[in-house]
Amino acid sequence: MRFQEVFIIKHVEQKNYISSRKERCNQKNMEKKKKFYITTPIYYPSGNPHIGHCYTTVACDTIARFKRMQGYDVMFLTGTDEHGMKIEQKAKDLGITPKEYVDPIVDNFKKLWKVMGISNDRFIRTTDDYHIKTVQSVFKKLYDKGYIYKGEYTGKYCTPCESFWTESQLDENGCCPDCHRPVIDAHEEAYFLKISDFADRIEKFLTETDYLTPKSRVNEMVNNFIKPGLEDLCVSRTSFTWGIPVTFDEKHVVYVWIDALTNYISALGYENDAYDDFDRYWPADMHMTAKEIVRFHSIVWIIMLMMLEIPLPKRLYGHGWINFNGQKMSKSVGNVIDPFILAERYGSDAVRYQIMRDMPFGSDSNFSNEIMINRINSDLANDLGNLVSRTVAMADKYFGGTLPTDREAEPLDNELIEMAKELCEKVSPMIEEARLSNALEEIFKVVSRANKYIDETEPWKLGKDESRKARLATVLYNLLETIRICSALLSPFMPATMPKVFEQIGAKAEDVEYDALGTFGKLPKDVTVKKGEVLFPRIDIEKEIDELNALLKPEKTIREDEDLEKANIINIDQFAEIKLRSGEVTACEKIPKAKKLLKLTVDDGRQGRQIVSGIAKWYKPEDLVGKKIVFVANLAPAKLCGELSEGMILACDAGEDDVRVLFLDKDVPNGSTIR
Ligand code: MSP
Repeated sequence: MRFQEVFIIKHVEQKNYISSRKERCNQKNMEKKKKFYITTPIYYPSGNPHIGHCYTTVACDTIARFKRMQGYDVMFLTGTDEHGMKIEQKAKDLGITPKEYVDPIVDNFKKLWKVMGISNDRFIRTTDDYHIKTVQSVFKKLYDKGYIYKGEYTGKYCTPCESFWTESQLDENGCCPDCHRPVIDAHEEAYFLKISDFADRIEKFLTETDYLTPKSRVNEMVNNFIKPGLEDLCVSRTSFTWGIPVTFDEKHVVYVWIDALTNYISALGYENDAYDDFDRYWPADMHMTAKEIVRFHSIVWIIMLMMLEIPLPKRLYGHGWINFNGQKMSKSVGNVIDPFILAERYGSDAVRYQIMRDMPFGSDSNFSNEIMINRINSDLANDLGNLVSRTVAMADKYFGGTLPTDREAEPLDNELIEMAKELCEKVSPMIEEARLSNALEEIFKVVSRANKYIDETEPWKLGKDESRKARLATVLYNLLETIRICSALLSPFMPATMPKVFEQIGAKAEDVEYDALGTFGKLPKDVTVKKGEVLFPRIDIEKEIDELNALLKPEKTIREDEDLEKANIINIDQFAEIKLRSGEVTACEKIPKAKKLLKLTVDDGRQGRQIVSGIAKWYKPEDLVGKKIVFVANLAPAKLCGELSEGMILACDAGEDDVRVLFLDKDVPNGSTIR
């Protein structure tokens, strides 16, 4: 039975059949024993965290907090995925060890989760000893069972994504289908995981269970990966060393995805002595990831567990991306927004709210500073903030803070009361299914209805009429009750601010417990309110945007560049190793298969050369022909999307999404040395 069903039954049972207080307590204790295990992906500490990383973690945190509110014993896991060629390479470039490279970044992730109010119960690092032990043991088990065998790998590898691809999986440009960057040829002795044997079983699992949501992702997996034929997966590498060694063949390290996926069980103590929670929490109740890694969590991970004969997790939610100017926000495209700065300026709850409210279930969302500020102003400052401050201020003004107990109900009250009463039952399944934006939408419908109720009942007029005091008290009480239910349901989304609302409306801890949310009339009739600080100050959008633009982009890039530069000083001899020369572009054309690339024929003062450059977005071929450029003359030749490139032309970042080529004066001879 799914948790949603359990919850609905529980809810109906509680409302209809459980009358005595004692029985209700027993029921609650039983519920307490139920467990809920939820996981985020573990993040690559290859660069500092950005808003894109926050979505999964904040969404999981919200669900974890909600389940705790329902009385579940929750295990919420997050962590970092620290091995792989990309990290080894970055550390090497900086002249430090991979561990030295990742440590401060991991600290930054931890710091960010603290700032964002993330309530994870455990944080795993794949460099933790106990995790290494588990991965080695899992690898050996799979080998002993005959699911891992030795062979030779020939194929394509995307270094930034740490992913192997077959020729048929590459995009229309022959590049990585995920990040669309060039892939490299890879040949080496390697171990393989026999996933091909599991094609039927995995298809049946994905199509016949509710594991993968939204359902559209099931079709994607079946049509793009299973139907074309599941090929055995290369699960070890010998070309780099920053990974977990295969115990029985130490020149191999375990493929990062096998290493990373195993975190979900190693963190519970599977095959290690660090924890003893596997029997308690496994199988996971919910894995959550963004869409591009659903493939690993719905195919590879499930097959690994089938091979190990471990029960399968219950649900995987594959959400969309936070995009920025239509592109996935990521460090490599240079459009990252610093969540530390946003949280500092608006408070972590406002940031949490915006990213959850604007991500529709299963689709992508767009981020911009304008979108965030408008959302904060309209929903949080205007709708919710005003509702709370107006209601509390009126209770204070007309009754000195404490409501009298006389009441005078009118039919007009019923719609609001019904909406508030039904809210918990309506939004609970949405939160359980990770439909967080829908849940917020429903809650804010009630907030808006309450604001409309103020306009309809005109309490300021009632306040002037001595004979309408009972009516005024009724209106304010209905508003306070509505705020109680809405703010309690909002508390998993905005855990720092909602307790302030509870305080202002005079709600005690038991009034905002989950079990109190289906009842209207929980607050004492003579409740006392307490005026407090403005919950969400209104932001002056124009001023703010100017300040943000000045603050976020240039400062961040400069700071990062400075850090990198300090860590990576070279001497004059090292600089002299890079041969920069002048040349003239004599011909230039687009590469039909590659949207981003231009092919340049360059007169280099010698026999001429061809250079492929990723500047098609900013330059047309005719913009370049006849121009003098600077190129790196001694760069190892490489093939980019099938075209030979002998060097690299120099260009500079000229803004958020602008690149300018460095042009030389017309009279500079071709082939001149630049120093
Ligand atoms: N290390 C792997 C996960 C291994 S889990 C066994 C990984 N790491 S990641 O740091 O690149 O990404 C972690 C999560 O953040 C992924 O779900 C990823 O898709 C998500 N996001 C990163 N940028 C994102 C957006 N711009 N928008 C939404 N989520 C995004 O993949």
